[in-house]
Amino acid sequence: MKENPLTIALLGNPILSQVSLPVSDPFSESVQDLIMNMKLILHQSGGIGLAAPQVHHLLRIFMYFIPKATNNPKYALTPEYDPEGVPLRVLINPIITPIESDTLTAWEGCLSVPGLLGEVQRHKSVRVSALNEEGNPISFTARGFHARALQHENDHLDGVVFPTRLTHPSRFGYTEEILPQMLGEKSS
Ligand code: NI
Repeated sequence: MKENPLTIALLGNPILSQVSLPVSDPFSESVQDLIMNMKLILHQSGGIGLAAPQVHHLLRIFMYFIPKATNNPKYALTPEYDPEGVPLRVLINPIITPIESDTLTAWEGCLSVPGLLGEVQRHKSVRVSALNEEGNPISFTARGFHARALQHENDHLDGVVFPTRLTHPSRFGYTEEILPQMLGEKSS
């Protein structure tokens, strides 16, 4: 098997703070190669979303999927989790607009911030327009956890990583310390 040329940039890498450029030709070989290798990395990493700057490419591309109803408490405890999930979706040059002013607060993780979770407030619902990986325009709306994933990934394209959006500096820490708190908050 060919080795994946991509590696994940970790928090502190300056590339994660830079603004990505629009993709001018979604059909170019370099863009199609990038998407293919990002899919492999996402598949191997156990994450649910990945943006191009996280693999050292400053292009407005991200991909994500929402797992079906899951036993993983990280997702099950998230407000408005859609039990149907969303299959892997690649978005090129996405535009994400909030639909309503309501927000939801929940814990997030990131492949560039391994082992850590932070609490972030996000818009409850968003409208998305983008090109898909075939270069066709698509648009859809998303709510709850799905909307959260989209806002998290889109932030990467603007050089924003979730720890800069914490509800409070104390609402950030190692997964093994945070998970018991999440469970406690849910049951109380
Ligand atoms: Ni991330």
